[in-house]
Order: sequence, then structure tokens, then C-alpha cells
Amino acid sequence: MRKPVIAGNWKMNMTCTEAIEYMRVLIPLLKDIPKKDREVVIAPPFTALYPLSEFIRDRNEYLSLSSQNVHWEDSGAYTAEVSPLMLNELSVKCAIVGHSEPRKYFSESDEQINKRAKSAQDHQLIPIVCVGETFQQREMGEAERVIRRQIEQGLEGIEVKRLIVAYEPIWAIGTGKTCEANEANRICGLIRKWIGYEDVIIQYGGSVKSNNIDEIMSMSDIDGVLVGGASLDPTNFARIANYEKI
Ligand code: PGA
Repeated sequence: MRKPVIAGNWKMNMTCTEAIEYMRVLIPLLKDIPKKDREVVIAPPFTALYPLSEFIRDRNEYLSLSSQNVHWEDSGAYTAEVSPLMLNELSVKCAIVGHSEPRKYFSESDEQINKRAKSAQDHQLIPIVCVGETFQQREMGEAERVIRRQIEQGLEGIEVKRLIVAYEPIWAIGTGKTCEANEANRICGLIRKWIGYEDVIIQYGGSVKSNNIDEIMSMSDIDGVLVGGASLDPTNFARIANYEKI
């Protein structure tokens, strides 16, 4: 039985003060979520992880935190990076790795992403490994080949039972163009087949909103969502977390 994971990726948004205000609004709106049915995760910027970990402790047992990245070394001369030990200290549960933004802006490779994912697992963090094709790759009929390569290289040596994969077509991120639900479901099904583990959690990400979440979550191979823009408003995100299958 796969338990859906609804994750909000705040990217480079929210000061610590704003993050706490957000939680004050969000948490009461999550009170009716069937706890056995789904999990809710927030990935704030690194700076907000500490105040949020303090704030949500004892307040909400099914809301957890994710980092937006993690390094493969425990410590050292890696300016601007964050160590898995630093995340462990804050009770962080997941770590997003391989998001298309660091892939694009900082030329992250599948090899580096693989090292980050392994480091996460070695420190009891669940990696959320993002994969997805560009518009051009899709137009050229290359989407499946590209995603398969990202899966094979990014997940080499990874324990599939402690893993979340997020299928995020790059052309759908922040553009308002959602991948059609049936097509997203088809790709998620392929990813499941390539990974070879029926129970792996596979999220969809890319312009998920309160008005398309119910359809997306009705798909058989989509086990949750990774939400960017629409997670920045707590009321909106609460509606997404409270999705109903149609
Ligand atoms: P979006 O971002 O929901 O704003 O499209 C998704 C993501 O980058 O994870």
C-alpha cells in the first residue's frame, strides 16, 4: 500500500517570521486529514528549518520537514552546501535532490545527484529525487530516454524502499502548463517499471494547483505531488493537502 506524500517546495521564499505565520494558518487546516491516508511535507529554505522544526514539534504528527538539498559529505570546505548531520539535528525527514533548478542553474549532474541521494539515505533521510524532461526533449520524442537515464544514473545503488521519486516535466514547472494527468500517470508508471519496485512512491510536480489536484491524485500511478508556487499560500496548500479523489 503506497501512502501519498503531498510536499510543498517553497524554493527561495519565506523569511523565518513568514514561515511561522504560514504554519499558524496551515496546521489547523490540516486537522481533518486522514493521517493513515497521506503525509504532508514542507520544504522551506535552509534558514527556516530550525524555527519550523521547533514550531511543529508536538503540534502536528503528520506534518514533516524536508530540506531542498543535501551534500554527500558530513562536513568540510563546501561553501553554500548543507550537511546531512545538520539536517538530522533538526528532525528533517526528507531531502529534495536533483530538482531541475539546481540541475539547470548549477549544472548538477546525475552523478552528483546520486551521491546526494545516497548521503541522504545513509543518514536516515528520505531522498525526493526529481527527474523530468525539457520541452525540447519532449518535442523531439526524447522524454522517456532522458528520464530513464536520470533514473538509472541517479538511483544507482539506492535503496528503493526508502525513496520518493518526483516526476517533474521541466516545461510544466512554474509555467502554469500542467502535464495532462493521463500522460503524467503514464510516465510515472514507466518510472515504476524501470525502478522495478511496485511500492516506490512517485510524485508528480509541475503547476499543481488547488483546481487540478483532485484529478492528479485520482491517477493510479501518482502517489503524491511536489508543489512549488501553489504551496506558498497556506490556504491554497491546505486545499491541495486535503485533496479528494474523483
Ligand atoms: P511549480 O513548481 O508547482 O511552481 O510548477 C514545482 C516544483 O518546482 O517542484
